Amino acid sequence: MSVTSKPFVTDATGQLGGNAVRLLHIDTSIKATGSLSREMSAAAVGRLKREAPNISVHYRDLAAHPLGDLTERVFASHAKGADIRDLDQAELSDLAESGKVLDEFLISEVIVIGVPLYNLTVPTSLKAWIDRMLVAGKTFSYGASGVIGLARGKRVIVLLARGGLYGEGSPNAHHEHAETYLRSIFTMIGVENLEVIVADGVDISPELRAAALERAMSSIAALAA
Ligand SMILES: Cc1cc2nc3c(=O)[nH]c(=O)nc-3n(C[C@H](O)[C@H](O)[C@H](O)COP(=O)(O)O)c2cc1C
Repeated sequence: MSVTSKPFVTDATGQLGGNAVRLLHIDTSIKATGSLSREMSAAAVGRLKREAPNISVHYRDLAAHPLGDLTERVFASHAKGADIRDLDQAELSDLAESGKVLDEFLISEVIVIGVPLYNLTVPTSLKAWIDRMLVAGKTFSYGASGVIGLARGKRVIVLLARGGLYGEGSPNAHHEHAETYLRSIFTMIGVENLEVIVADGVDISPELRAAALERAMSSIAALAA
C-alpha cells in the first residue's frame, strides 16, 4: 500500500522547528480535480498557514491512498495489541499504515478534513481512517459513566461539500449523516467544538454552487488563527 505524501517538515536534526504547530490535512473526495471539498480544505490550510507560518503540514489523501476496510486480525493487533504472529504481508502493511494514521493524529494539534457528502454520509475512505484513529486507550477510554475523550485540546476543522440542501429547516435536514456523524465521533474523543464549514446545494445549479462556495470561502477567510 502506498504511503502518504509529505511528512511533517523537520530540520536537519529531524526535529520540528521551534514551537511549530503540527497540522494534519486530509482529503477524501474521489475527484482528483474539480473537487469543492479539496478546494475548501486547501483554502483553510492556506489561511491557517498565512496566520501562523510556523505551522508544519502533513498531507494525507485518503482517496488516492485508501486504507481499506479494517479486518478482525488487523484490528486485534492495532487496537488491542494482540500478538498476531501469522499476519500476511498485506495485513502487516495495513497494520503499519494503521499505526501511522493513529500516530499522525495523536501528534497533530490541528486537523483539517475535506469531506464530500456521499450517499448521505462520509466517504468510506474517511470511515476507514476513523476506524484506525478511534482506539480505546489512545483517543478515548471507557469510564464508569460512559466514554471519555482522550484527544481534548485538538482543533478539528471540517470542510463539507454537499450536492443537495441539508441546512437547518430544509426538508432533507434529517437525512444528513456526515456533519452529525463527525460531530458524534469527535465529541466521543473529546473534541467538543468541531468547526464545520459547509458548501450546501452545490450540484443544484451553477449559480447555487458559486454562491455556496463564496459563502464557504468567506467563512474560511474568517477562521480564527
Ligand atoms: C458517490 C457520490 C455520492 C453522492 N451522494 C450524495 C448525497 O447523498 N447527497 C447529496 O446531496 N450529494 C451527493 N453527492 C454529491 C456530492 O456531495 C457533491 O458533488 C460534492 O460537491 C462532492 O464533493 P467534492 O466536490 O469535494 O467531490 C454524491 C456524489 C458522489 C460522487
